[in-house]
Amino acid sequence: MLNSALSTIHDEHRSLAAVVHGLRYLVRNSQTKNAPPDFRVLWAMIYYLDEFSEKLHHPKENSYLFARLRQRTQEADKVLAELEQQHSAGTQHVRELELALGQYEAGVADGLDKFSGAVEKLGNEILKHMALEESILIPMARKYLTAEDWVEIGAAFSENGDPRFDAETDQECRDLFSRIVNLAPPPIGVGPGRNKAPGPGN
Ligand SMILES: [Fe+2]
Ligand SMILES: [Fe+2]
Repeated sequence: MLNSALSTIHDEHRSLAAVVHGLRYLVRNSQTKNAPPDFRVLWAMIYYLDEFSEKLHHPKENSYLFARLRQRTQEADKVLAELEQQHSAGTQHVRELELALGQYEAGVADGLDKFSGAVEKLGNEILKHMALEESILIPMARKYLTAEDWVEIGAAFSENGDPRFDAETDQECRDLFSRIVNLAPPPIGVGPGRNKAPGPGN
C-alpha cells in the first residue's frame, strides 16, 4: 500500500508540474515569438492548478499524510509547518495569477509581462513546494509511518477514497487535464495550435 500511495502522490505532482511547464512554455512563446495567446488554454491551466490543488491534493496531504506524520514524530514539525504555510499562501497566489491573466486578456498595458511575472512566481513556488515534499517529507514519512497509516493514505488518495473529496471533483479534474492536453498546441498538447504570428512582409 505504501507504493500505491506514493505512486499516486508522485503522479499528482507530475500532473501539476506538467501544467506549470505548459503554462511557462506558452507564455515564453508569446513573449519571444509574438505567438497569439489562446486564453481558453491559459484559463483552463490556471483553473486546473487551483481546483486540483485546493480541492483535492493539498487537503488530502493535510488531512492524511501530514496529520499522520505529525502523530508519529516531532522530527517533521518544522517541514510540516513550512509546507502547510505554502499550501495556504498558494491560494492567494493563484488569485493574483487569475487577476494578472484577466488584465492581460483585457489588454491592460504590460499585461503579458505582468502575467509572465505571476506565472514564474507561482510556478517556482509550486515546483519548490513539491521538491520539498519529495526530498524531505516523503523520506520522513517512509521512515516513521506504519503499514496501517499507508493503507489509510493510499485509500484517501484513490478515487472515492474519502467522501469529503467527492468523486465528481476528481473526475472533473481528470476531464480538465484531458481538455488542456486537447486544447494546448504541440509540444505541450495535441491541440490544433494557433495561427502563427505574421512574419516579415505579411
Ligand atoms: Fe503539498
Ligand atoms: Fe504535494
